Amino acid sequence: MSTESIRMVLIGPPGAGKGTQAPNLVEKFHACHLSTGDMLRSQIAKNTELGQEAKKIMDQGGLVSDEIMVNMIKDELTNNPACKNGFILDGFPRTIPQAEKLDQMLAERGTPLQRAVELQVDDDLLVARITGRLIHPASGRSYHKLFNPPKVDMVDDVTGEPLIQRSDDNADALKKRLAGYHAQTEPIVDFYKKTGIWSGVDASQPPATVWDEILKSLSQK
Ligand code: AP5
Repeated sequence: MSTESIRMVLIGPPGAGKGTQAPNLVEKFHACHLSTGDMLRSQIAKNTELGQEAKKIMDQGGLVSDEIMVNMIKDELTNNPACKNGFILDGFPRTIPQAEKLDQMLAERGTPLQRAVELQVDDDLLVARITGRLIHPASGRSYHKLFNPPKVDMVDDVTGEPLIQRSDDNADALKKRLAGYHAQTEPIVDFYKKTGIWSGVDASQPPATVWDEILKSLSQK
């Protein structure tokens, strides 16, 4: 595959490593990284009306409406200059209607999706990952207390700013997020298998190995 542009989605349950691997893809392909979770958290940080509504839903492990999410992505793909050279979608699409709307939007532009990479991890492993996660809110960079610690305790490697834990990274919300993933998001795997752009990666391995496997899967077709 050309390293000049890419249009892809990263699929995976909470804690699969989408936010961990996306920066590697951005660096390699010079595409934009659109994380709908990060976009919603930015609305929460700004205390907008949407942010206030989204926080209630996110803290309970639910999903924000398809219409809001589709419009958010449409706006970014249209107006964000960083997306000119392609995009990596992380956390979107999350339902079949979102996947259908994305396909329709991209078909109208004549720039169809090229890849859908699924990060596959068993639920048992995800609990440890999520409860140990630390994030840098401004960039969305994620670390893990044990598996991927920052160089200095509780401090972002790049900016030196403090790291935090997400308010939805608790056992109760995670249970609902996982159930929601299996019920509403997993069906999009079949959706992309049918269009022939799906590939699966064993994401239970160390981050560097997962990255190698992602690269391998992208170079295969
Ligand atoms: P979102 O922010 O997208 O959360 P998520 O999908 O639950 O995914 P996570 O961010 O939890 O996981 P990740 O795969 O990025 O894991 P990470 O790389 O950090 O969404 C949050 C909420 O927003 C949703 O619940 C919903 O309410 C709403 N929302 C968002 N998009 C929506 C949409 N399209 N429609 C409707 N609602 C929407 O890794 C996790 C931890 O593990 C880290 O600590 C990391 O260091 C560690 N780690 C990563 N890889 C490895 C590895 N290989 N080995 C060991 N540790 C690892």
